[in-house]
Amino acid sequence: MKLDQPTAPRLRCISCNVTPISAAQDFRCHACGDLLEFFFSNPNFNPLALKSLWQNRRASLDPQDRSGVWRFRELLPPIPDSHIITLAEGNTPLYHLRRCARALGIENLLAKHQGMNPTGSFKDTGMTVAASAARQQGFRWVACASTGNTSASMAAYGSRAHMRSLVLIPEGQISWGKLSQSLDYGALTCQLRTDFDGCLRLLTALVRQKPVYLLNSVNPYRIEGQKTTALELVEQLDWQVPDHIIVPGGNLGNSSAIGKALIEMHDLKLISRLPKLSIVQAEGANPFYRAVHDFAGKKLEPVTADTMATAIRIGNPASWKKALKVLRATGGQVEQVSEIEIAEAKAEIGADGIGCEPASAVTLAGLKKLRASGFVQANEFVVLILTGHLLKDPDFTIRFHRGDLFEGTSEERAAGRIKPLQRAPIVLDADLGAVLATLDAADRNS
Ligand code: F0G
Repeated sequence: MKLDQPTAPRLRCISCNVTPISAAQDFRCHACGDLLEFFFSNPNFNPLALKSLWQNRRASLDPQDRSGVWRFRELLPPIPDSHIITLAEGNTPLYHLRRCARALGIENLLAKHQGMNPTGSFKDTGMTVAASAARQQGFRWVACASTGNTSASMAAYGSRAHMRSLVLIPEGQISWGKLSQSLDYGALTCQLRTDFDGCLRLLTALVRQKPVYLLNSVNPYRIEGQKTTALELVEQLDWQVPDHIIVPGGNLGNSSAIGKALIEMHDLKLISRLPKLSIVQAEGANPFYRAVHDFAGKKLEPVTADTMATAIRIGNPASWKKALKVLRATGGQVEQVSEIEIAEAKAEIGADGIGCEPASAVTLAGLKKLRASGFVQANEFVVLILTGHLLKDPDFTIRFHRGDLFEGTSEERAAGRIKPLQRAPIVLDADLGAVLATLDAADRNS
């Protein structure tokens, strides 16, 4: 089947709709200062032909076809082959969470594990596109502000593309796993005495002065790459659409990207209906939850963010208007969850044999609330987007199981309820009898 020839996607401001030929260094609209997005002015695709083209590429040996991002290149901004920098990202697994489903009284609960990307988080899907755009435009330096995963991903793709990386991270607020990645991949790493929002503010000022390419999710190329998570998800489901997709919300780039993909797929008739996309924030970093619940989406008041899910410790999310648009278009909800609910949900996902980092676990914690309120029904089909790998933040996991995660916090007493999930390591003499006795005791208790 022959594909029609649609025109390449163009940039447009999400607020005033001007369509610049190219983006400024800070990716802000020159007319009103809001964010830019890509759109198709002539989305003249044949959905059946697209589906079979994408399916056939799975059998190809071409690195672009093997990438779970570039395989869908018809829906991405065009970048010449010679500039594409790929680490075989995407192609992430979709797992049943059977225990969690049973506990929740839901028949069909799946997790799309974006932590199974090359650097251990969903960021790689957007980074391959935006880093390729940086290389195409001839930049020597790329930069991002980060809570740890963007910086890990950027540092890897930057090095693969022979570009230097500048990382700005909040001092003492990102996990060691993520920091170590940025160092190992060769980035110039600056720990600033501020929070994520302070790092992003500073970087935005910096790129207005220096020819440094900004790789945060305000960069619309990032959003386009991250769209492929949703494309791949429904392709894995043979183009069946789940009833609900649930994502964590930090800077709100990922929810915007997944929502944009769903809306585009619906417009292009690749899917017959829209799933509800719901977004979950930590209570201590909940500006979007408040924007929707307290201000009816009319404004977002920044907060000083604080949560042990450090990936989403963000008080002034850049993409909140994009996220609001997809929330409204899909009919999803915004939830917030407590620190204990996050820790509990993370251990429950772990007990299903699927590890993730704390920020990813807000999805299950949020689902419990959406189930309790009746927004999610027992017979509905739910997919959680797990955004980061368990090994990104082993410190959190060890402290949870040792039982000291909430020590000295206001939630110390309430933390009693997570005790049954704790599996602290047991120190024994190297003695067969001692190990057998421990095994027998555990067997009696299970
Ligand atoms: N989950 C993980 C594991 C993350 O690292 C992030 C964001 C999110 C969820 C939230 O995604 O910002 O698109 O709403 N991490 C960024 C970083 C901010 O710098 O690594 P979002």
